[in-house]
Amino acid sequence: MKGIILAGGMGTRLMPLTKVTNKHLLPVGRYPMIYYPLHTLAKCGIRDIMIVSGRGHAGHFLELLGSGNQFGVRLSYALQEDAGGIAQALGLCEDFADNEKVAVILGDNIYRDNFKDDAEKFKSQERGAKIFLKKVQDPSRFGVPEIASDKIVKIEEKPQNPKSPYAVTGFYLYDNRVWEVIKKLKPSGRGELEITDVNNFYIQDGSMKFSVVPGWWTDAGTFDSLLQANILVSREKQELNFDSHGPFAKPA
Ligand code: DAU
Repeated sequence: MKGIILAGGMGTRLMPLTKVTNKHLLPVGRYPMIYYPLHTLAKCGIRDIMIVSGRGHAGHFLELLGSGNQFGVRLSYALQEDAGGIAQALGLCEDFADNEKVAVILGDNIYRDNFKDDAEKFKSQERGAKIFLKKVQDPSRFGVPEIASDKIVKIEEKPQNPKSPYAVTGFYLYDNRVWEVIKKLKPSGRGELEITDVNNFYIQDGSMKFSVVPGWWTDAGTFDSLLQANILVSREKQELNFDSHGPFAKPA
């Protein structure tokens, strides 16, 4: 299974922090934000990872992370020319995926948990997709599932009246049909190709699985959530101390 980190987009909600640098390079605890999703994929045992970034700062990702050798992974890079949405950024990775399944993580999502077992299980299943939910205070800020008799009926992106208290978090497992799904998407009201529409395809197809994330999770794309990410990470020195987890070297 291949790994993909989506780190495009403009980071406008964090202006002026993102005026001359990229959101995913901002500090969270002792590390640049992108270290965390990279670590999440590495802990799944995924070794081939593509990073999609936007114009302006693509070179900075390369300078920071290089070949990936220091992290025990092999990194490839892609450029998303315009911020046309999460699903558009993902669509750039079709050739890289080479017909394998993919584990996709948003570059501003930080997890306490290890998804190794989920990734292993997904690799051995024939087809489908899997998403990870977390109960949140403010579901309207996220993709929100409607759940009936333990099944997701539909996901709504940033609904005014959320149908459940859960957010669809930014870690997704997809089979190789995802590329055809993306090609058929139409831009949403905000002019983006939405990952929620990709997920709704798998729900309608009856092949979407989900689980609730046990540990803490946060995004870090707003001032409040960036602060929250820093607080959560700094309380977890032992667990998120990358050098104690194998592939990650100590920062210089
Ligand atoms: O954090 C989880 C949420 O992320 C989900 O619940 C939502 O369903 C999903 O749409 C997304 O919502 P956001 O509005 O928070 O997404 P945002 O625009 O902040 O983008 C999240 C990451 O996706 C960002 O850090 C980089 C990547 N991205 C985003 C866009 C719009 C790209 O790579 N390219 C893009 O064009």
